[in-house]
Amino acid sequence: MSADIVIGMNAADLPTPVLVVDAAVLRRNLAEMAAHTAALDVALRPHWKTTKSAEVARLQLEAGAVGHTAATVAELTALASGVSPSVFLAYPPVGRFRVAAVIQASRTAEVIVGADSVDAVRELSEAAVAAGIVIPIRLDIDTGLRRTGVAPDGAVAAARAIAATPGLRLDGVWTHEGQVQAAGTDPVERRRRGVHAGETLVATADAIRADGHEVTSVSVGSTPGVRSAPTVPGITEARPGTYALGDENQVHIGTMSPEDVAVSVHSRVVSTRPAEWAIIDAGIKAMSSDGSMHGDGRIGTVVSAGGGVVATGHEEHGFLRGADDPRVGDIVRIRPNHACGAVNMHHRIVVMEDDVVTGLWPVLARH
Ligand SMILES: Cc1ncc(COP(=O)(O)O)c(C=O)c1O
Repeated sequence: MSADIVIGMNAADLPTPVLVVDAAVLRRNLAEMAAHTAALDVALRPHWKTTKSAEVARLQLEAGAVGHTAATVAELTALASGVSPSVFLAYPPVGRFRVAAVIQASRTAEVIVGADSVDAVRELSEAAVAAGIVIPIRLDIDTGLRRTGVAPDGAVAAARAIAATPGLRLDGVWTHEGQVQAAGTDPVERRRRGVHAGETLVATADAIRADGHEVTSVSVGSTPGVRSAPTVPGITEARPGTYALGDENQVHIGTMSPEDVAVSVHSRVVSTRPAEWAIIDAGIKAMSSDGSMHGDGRIGTVVSAGGGVVATGHEEHGFLRGADDPRVGDIVRIRPNHACGAVNMHHRIVVMEDDVVTGLWPVLARH
């Protein structure tokens, strides 16, 4: 462990690099999203990959979330261990290790599983029958991202096959409308894609209902799409994740404002020998190498006095360009491109209020 961080420590004394979350901004983001989804009358089931923090999960539940979304077995297992009452595994349950985790987690929480084909749930079906339980399944619909998900015109057949599989119950449909983020800085196109995703999902749910199945949940999920996709009548749930912390990519495309970004990486200037740039102690192992929506390859954007960008990074070295007179020892605060990737590089979140440490929250389930 490093020379350690204690409650009450000032920002200037923090060892670097370190991942900091502003508690007031975080709380405001959680409350705003809870109010937004409540006004739309859709359930809020935040994706937990963004923070992987039991403390944030608790705050989200207190603000009205119905449960959480997970991508990995580690996230599912951590959430189901007393952190969240209801977990949606938005990932195909393929492989014995995933199946075993679902069965185990189902003993302590409600677990709903996403899948886009009957092939993806075959092992799970056998395990559920052996365990004497019934697992709710949501059918993954590709509304335009072209990642996982059945095409809408194949959804009725896939739903029928899943509904007929022992040990499983068809619960609903879901999509991840990541194509909204890919629309970048154009708000009209983002909205068009979000509404299109919502409408496609609702129409698919109706087609499955017309085939004689109950479709309870109709779930969309993303931060850039949360102002559009869940506004479509018939959507029952939203699963944003990044909204809790915000990041430079959301600021750049215009879906969150700079004041709403709760996360930053604090670092120190450690070398200024080359005239063209300074070296800071935050490289890709502090920021992650997630891509920038700016399209210029940066790994982060400086938000403290002096400005500049972290133009590129080695593991423990960041190349700070465009800063105003950087000096060795200066503390530089950086907004990461992508909050979820940056958090996953750290074993704890340093929580600060008015630049004083008020909490140290473990980052769980990193692998
Ligand atoms: C399945 C799924 N749901 C929800 C989300 C949350 O999206 P965002 O990070 O834009 O909030 C993601 C993000 O990748 C996802 O993959």
